[in-house]
Amino acid sequence: MAKSEKKLLRALAGETQKVPPIWLMRQAGRHLPEYRELRAQEKNFLDFCYNPELAVQATLQPVERYGMDGAILFSDILVIPHALGQKVWFAEGEGPKLEPLRTTQDLEKLDAGPLHEHLQPVYETVQQLSGALPEGAALIGFAGAPWTVATYMIEGGASRDYRNARGWAYRRPDEFQRLMDLLIQATADYLIAQVERGAEAVQLFDSWAGVLPPAQFRQWSIRPIREITQRLKEKFPDIPVIGFPRGAGLLYEEFARETSVDCVSIDGNIAPGWARDNLQTQCCVQGNLDNLVLIEGGDLLDAETNQILQALIGGPFIFNLGHGILPETPPEHVERLVRRVRAGTPL
Ligand code: CP3
Repeated sequence: MAKSEKKLLRALAGETQKVPPIWLMRQAGRHLPEYRELRAQEKNFLDFCYNPELAVQATLQPVERYGMDGAILFSDILVIPHALGQKVWFAEGEGPKLEPLRTTQDLEKLDAGPLHEHLQPVYETVQQLSGALPEGAALIGFAGAPWTVATYMIEGGASRDYRNARGWAYRRPDEFQRLMDLLIQATADYLIAQVERGAEAVQLFDSWAGVLPPAQFRQWSIRPIREITQRLKEKFPDIPVIGFPRGAGLLYEEFARETSVDCVSIDGNIAPGWARDNLQTQCCVQGNLDNLVLIEGGDLLDAETNQILQALIGGPFIFNLGHGILPETPPEHVERLVRRVRAGTPL
């Protein structure tokens, strides 16, 4: 199929469609029994990400099972700190762990020199995928946005309040900016390499953007994402970029305007009608079913899905969740959702 006919890319190019494309954030992963089986072949999660044969299969699993319109590269946002030389590991059942950056000397140890060599297996995965996708599915590359990646690097993992990262940005903004510049550069290079190997769109996950007050949000979420988008588009003017500043609330509007991304992915706190009036006028909108509604299923799932469709179907739109799919999600509920979205929007 010609690139221009893929539903996901048409939406990203600003087209309104009667039946929107659908894919789900974190669609590959533990909610799928076939993923859990594949995952057992490699003890270490990062080694799994760096194994093109396994990563290709993990990417394709949800696309083949559900007929999704988008295939998101199987990798993780933390391959960037790992490639910069930071220690990163995944403790079973505990999520990611990193040896935290706390001092100027810690920052100086980071080195972007080996970036591409380190990430070569991920590039190989993208290349293999670009020839292996089912007809009609678009290949989505991704990276974490600099702010979100920096929080993991500084906190050493997930955190409740991001105190160390936020404190550093207030206390020594110039030094924090140097870390951000390193991440902006590395992330842009990483995404450019993904596009060179066949990624047809890219998404930047700013999962913790919502903890930043407005001025900080402008500085550490909007600006870095704008710079990465500009660098990508200098090289590939037509590559669509999706931004996901989760939790940005009213600042979503400024984010859409100032970053000039082609699409904003909205979280579950955004009313779809507000997104239609304030975001869809500027760009494509992606979202935003509550991932817990998908776990519940049934009539609730249908009703919530219909509400989102009714609000957003009149403009460029990609159906998705408000945040990643949870491991407890029954695959039958995903099937029901896809059927509902494809059946057309009830008036
Ligand atoms: O379908 C896909 O989207 C697969 C690719 C993907 C993964 N992580 C695989 C993964 C993507 C796009 C991500 C993004 C990611 N990783 C984000 C941003 C999106 C979001 O949810 O906010 C973040 C914050 C991370 C960091 C991360 N990686 C966490 C917090 C965890 C632990 C929590 C969890 O879901 O397990 C991971 C591990 C991870 N990344 C897994 C997968 C499939 C589970 C590990 C396993 O299978 O053993």
